[in-house]
Amino acid sequence: MNEIYRVAIDGPSGAGKSTIAKAVAKALGIDYIDTGAMYRAIGYKMSSTGVDPEDLEAVSAMLEDTEIDFQAGDIYLDGEIVNNKIRTPEMSMMASVCSQIPAVRQKLVQLQRAMGTRKSVIMDGRDIGTNVLTDAEYKIYLTASAEERARRRFLELQEKGEEQSFESVLEDIRQRDHNDMTRELNPLRKADDAIELDTTGLDIDQVVQKVLEIVGR
Ligand code: DC
Repeated sequence: MNEIYRVAIDGPSGAGKSTIAKAVAKALGIDYIDTGAMYRAIGYKMSSTGVDPEDLEAVSAMLEDTEIDFQAGDIYLDGEIVNNKIRTPEMSMMASVCSQIPAVRQKLVQLQRAMGTRKSVIMDGRDIGTNVLTDAEYKIYLTASAEERARRRFLELQEKGEEQSFESVLEDIRQRDHNDMTRELNPLRKADDAIELDTTGLDIDQVVQKVLEIVGR
């Protein structure tokens, strides 16, 4: 009786996608799939095992021997929970680099599509509405100004006790926007049929409410 539906959320780094998607998933009682975490997990594995992103043979061999899964909100890489290990500025940059490698995208997109066929999900990333779930019932493009996004990330890092200047956080955001929007394969862009939501000046609850209104369930 309960038909399956998919909610695709795309947008640039720091627009609040994962916070919003998590809250919406809870409100709707559906699963949340954080595709950025999957690119981060691959980046983490590459750096911890010393695989050079330019060595495509080594990358392919590594991918064949890699398992990624979500269970109860935790991300598992080869059976190990890596939630915290992948949330560092270094891993943000590694994820951005490795997300440009075709073999990495191919493997992760395949996994993501499979995750979106079995049950209702909300999935966030950069290419969900344009590539992974092109027939998603609901597509939302979340944005905010680069300064606002840097301010949010800066406060988050401060809370975690990580030392980084606001300028370097802003520079990271700009660099990642550039990487994500200009890469050859499935760059970040708003799908033609996505609804754009600018979250500058809005708090989390306000954005969650707007998304729930769009989904209307
Ligand atoms: O959302 P995030 O910051 O955790 O994503 C990490 C990196 O992964 C980001 O720089 C872009 C990349 N990414 C991607 O290319 N495609 C996705 N669907 C999700 C993330």
